[in-house]
Amino acid sequence: MIVLKNKEEIEKIRSSCSIVVDILMRLSEKVEPGISTYELDKIAEDMAKKNGARPAFKGYRDYPGSVCFAMNQEVVHGIPSKKKIVKDGDILGMDFGIYKDGYYGDSAITTAIGEVDDRTLNLLKITRESLYKGIEQAKPKNNLFDISSAIQDHVEQNGYSIVRTFVGHGIGASLHEDPQVPNFVPKNSGWSKGGKLKPGMVIAIEPMVNIGSPDVKILKDGWTAVTVDGELSAHFEHTVAITENGPDILTEFGVI
Ligand code: MF3
Ligand code: CO
Repeated sequence: MIVLKNKEEIEKIRSSCSIVVDILMRLSEKVEPGISTYELDKIAEDMAKKNGARPAFKGYRDYPGSVCFAMNQEVVHGIPSKKKIVKDGDILGMDFGIYKDGYYGDSAITTAIGEVDDRTLNLLKITRESLYKGIEQAKPKNNLFDISSAIQDHVEQNGYSIVRTFVGHGIGASLHEDPQVPNFVPKNSGWSKGGKLKPGMVIAIEPMVNIGSPDVKILKDGWTAVTVDGELSAHFEHTVAITENGPDILTEFGVI
């Protein structure tokens, strides 16, 4: 069931999203060679508490951290660790959400640390662009899969692949609501085209893009998703409201 949100509810989601944005911006300032993902996670958790917010992912299906990290060939859901030290040339995905006053906000960025080669920078660029191509389609009268196909086309035209294992989602009073928001057009999706987009829908759009094969596997920790071929992966995510006037990016900010 898709829960439509009124204007007040969208503003509440926007204020949760603005805390997420502040925290992700702080994390991207702090990401420097030598820092561990454990330290970054603590910064995020402390900042959330200072803002009267609860980190959304901590405890969700027993996830142990506040932030989901993804270093280099990791795709998503990397658990914070004192042993995971950021170094020059790495890329680091940081996916973060909070809950405050009844509503969730959710966003992710992938940042490059120090000197990163052009091949890697291009992956980040195309992944970020694919998110915005999807967002452009997030307007009334379009279908859900217009978002999916815009993302998929941009990624595949640039020679990369879209991860199938994880998808975006509705968001609001719950972290994960209907509809699921795939970053690809599901095979045999038939006539539905994913259903019509309506004003008041709020969705988290979150493409995960691999340089090589789209296949991922989960490590023994039960969480960390990595590319099967060991190639790099990137992830960007925005929480977006569908309004009469088109997409309203509730997690919009300067760094991505
Ligand atoms: N942004 C991711 C999602 O919406 C975060 C996963 S939360 C976790 O699914 F707790 F399951 F890791
Ligand atoms: Co999400």
